[in-house]
Amino acid sequence: MTTQLTIIKPDDWHLHLRDGEALSTTVAFTAKQFQRAIVMPNLAQPIINAELAMAYKQRILDARPTDSAFQPLMTLYLTDNTTADDIKQASESNDIVAAKLYPAGATTNSSNGVTDIDKLAPVFTAMQKHGLLLLVHAEVTDNSVDIFDREQVFIDKHLNTIRRDFPELKIVLEHATTKQAIAFVEANDNTAATLTPQHLLFNRNDLLAGGIRPHNYCLPILKRETHRLALVKAAISGNRKFFLGTDSAPHTSHAKEASCGCAGCFTAHAAIELYTEVFEKENALDKLEGFSSFYGPDFYNLPRNKSKITLIKEAWKAPPNYSFGDHTLTPFRQETSLNWSISQ
Ligand code: DOR
Ligand code: ZN
Repeated sequence: MTTQLTIIKPDDWHLHLRDGEALSTTVAFTAKQFQRAIVMPNLAQPIINAELAMAYKQRILDARPTDSAFQPLMTLYLTDNTTADDIKQASESNDIVAAKLYPAGATTNSSNGVTDIDKLAPVFTAMQKHGLLLLVHAEVTDNSVDIFDREQVFIDKHLNTIRRDFPELKIVLEHATTKQAIAFVEANDNTAATLTPQHLLFNRNDLLAGGIRPHNYCLPILKRETHRLALVKAAISGNRKFFLGTDSAPHTSHAKEASCGCAGCFTAHAAIELYTEVFEKENALDKLEGFSSFYGPDFYNLPRNKSKITLIKEAWKAPPNYSFGDHTLTPFRQETSLNWSISQ
């Protein structure tokens, strides 16, 4: 039985750090285990241009613990008003590597997102030309579509067309949750997906059976077991199109434990430990390093990291809450012990 594992330090290819006071909490958790992270731009005032992205990057750097070499990789938030010139300027900055497509109303802070994807053609053309990746929250927002079907319908209605019309554009289907998403990624070139710990570990029973568990609520919502199995299979397959992206998305405990609770699981306190558990259960620990540390930078055309981390099989339990400014933050999978720890 493997009880110790050393891998190249991983990166998180999908992360929410928030802003202001929150940064002192969120940046420290992620910097502890990840070398780099793709920082999502869905702040209350979204990051819609290079200038805002650079200022946000500086706030993140300022919040790093002393001696941390953590590097945020910045993204732009696409709106109905994004221009080809915004994309050109972003690509010239070198610190901005991607732009995120949120369909308007799909999730947290997405009200400024895109209402008509077809109108983004000039923006996609510019992204393709300047080598910016397109990161997609792949869910339709149409209320007539069942929440469990929204990813699949988005792929059929929109992603297939974008893929066909912009063949050189690199696309990441973020937080893939269905077997249809896995099949789409497998079938198309220049296409990858991030997979979250919660979608690899849990299905919708963990959200709804025996009582509603708000800390397991995120978007896209947890799906049925057949989908989870397809995600696990992809993660451990060694297919370079699937890599780590936590979608760690902190909200205060009271915002989650509410009559209309916010979507998002906070996993950054134990992200690599949670993934390690998934790979161990499948007897696939030899595939963890590729998924966590190699395939992300390869797809983004960035160098792989050089330093290493060591994981040891030693159980620990996250506290019920972490302090979060004047509030608290409830970590994901807090009820049960975690099997793996990072060796200090
Ligand atoms: O559950 C989620 N939370 N899904 C998202 O797409 C956004 C995120 C957030 O920002 O809270
Ligand atoms: Zn996200």
